[in-house]
Amino acid sequence: MPHLTINGNPIDVPEGTTILRAAEKLGITIPTLCDHPDLTPYGGCRLCLVEVKGSRNLSASCALAATEGMEVTTESAQLTEARRGILELLLFAYHDSGYADGQKETTQFMRWVRHYGLDPVKQQSANPYHPVNSDSNPVVWVDMNKCILCNRCIRACAEVQGRFVWELAERGFNSHIMAGAGAGMLPGRCESCGACVAYCPTGALDNKPSIGAGLPDKLVTTTCSYCGVGCQFDLNIKDGKIIRVTSNPNAPVNGMHLCVKGRYGYDYVHHPERLTRPKVRRYLLEGKAKSEIREERGEMGDTKTNHLSSHPPVSALWDWVETDWETALTITADKLRETRDHYGPDSIGILTSAKCTNEENYLMNKLARQVIRTNNIDHCARL
Ligand code: SF4
Ligand code: SF4
Ligand code: FES
Repeated sequence: MPHLTINGNPIDVPEGTTILRAAEKLGITIPTLCDHPDLTPYGGCRLCLVEVKGSRNLSASCALAATEGMEVTTESAQLTEARRGILELLLFAYHDSGYADGQKETTQFMRWVRHYGLDPVKQQSANPYHPVNSDSNPVVWVDMNKCILCNRCIRACAEVQGRFVWELAERGFNSHIMAGAGAGMLPGRCESCGACVAYCPTGALDNKPSIGAGLPDKLVTTTCSYCGVGCQFDLNIKDGKIIRVTSNPNAPVNGMHLCVKGRYGYDYVHHPERLTRPKVRRYLLEGKAKSEIREERGEMGDTKTNHLSSHPPVSALWDWVETDWETALTITADKLRETRDHYGPDSIGILTSAKCTNEENYLMNKLARQVIRTNNIDHCARL
């Protein structure tokens, strides 16, 4: 447990803790760009420079392990000047074409640019160096004019998603981030999870469906409805509609990570054809037997050859009718009971869902085994 001081504050930290993480424990903010607590330290942007007593050079705090007796200073005139210089250089090669509609102001890079008194409009590159929207990925927007080569996308894709799509190509001023060895993201085995977007601090990688959507009115933290993992994220709401999904680093199950469904599959929420109330067949609602539909169609002969599923009925009794939950559940329960009593419990099988909670699946197990009295129960995750 090395003992050190940061800005005069004493702290003991476990062996191997970086100065940056030790400072965070003390509530001291050191500016960063290439660092992220989920990713291995990179030490590339140098914005996190600090002074260490006895050292001639400024040190990158995200890559420097704390040692016994260290005396660290995180704010000084020299550090401010150094950080401003670094941000000026990054801005020199940065160009924003203006499509992000206010969203750019919220990026980590822009926050530090403004914090150190730089003018992002006057000090950015006058012209783009790369084509905007340069990749055909349907959900990830790529604009390398905003890339500051922080390497976070490379590490996020490799370390969080395990796909290794991104890499750093060429050297010096020609250095750039490249997907799929130049073939693009999807040919590079991208799963469109958006992890590289979530970790990008500049908007060089962004959510394509949300480009131009602006800033949200509010964030709503919620749990994904797609599967049983229970990932959490923040719905970005504007005018009552979801305009994007962003990672919530405090999500207990998944942290920053999401799959393509959770991050991009939210269009069903506002879809005009989305079912929001139960529907039942009209003959059930009117308390009629299925045979009445067959009679109406003159199909009461051989039920095997004239089965309803192989002959789409034209009867209005077969229509879907919207109803309330009480009615729909009562009809379902009655039909299950009738089937069990007439054909036996094993004529019924129950398939539960990964969308249900553990508790709901447990109750379905009880319904199958103790109410219906069958062991015919399985789960969609095994299909
Ligand atoms: S979207 Fe996911 S899989 Fe595709 S490049 Fe980004 S991190 Fe890798
Ligand atoms: S695309 Fe974003 S995350 Fe990747 S290196 Fe550039 S700025 Fe960093
Ligand atoms: S945050 Fe430490 S070098 Fe980039």
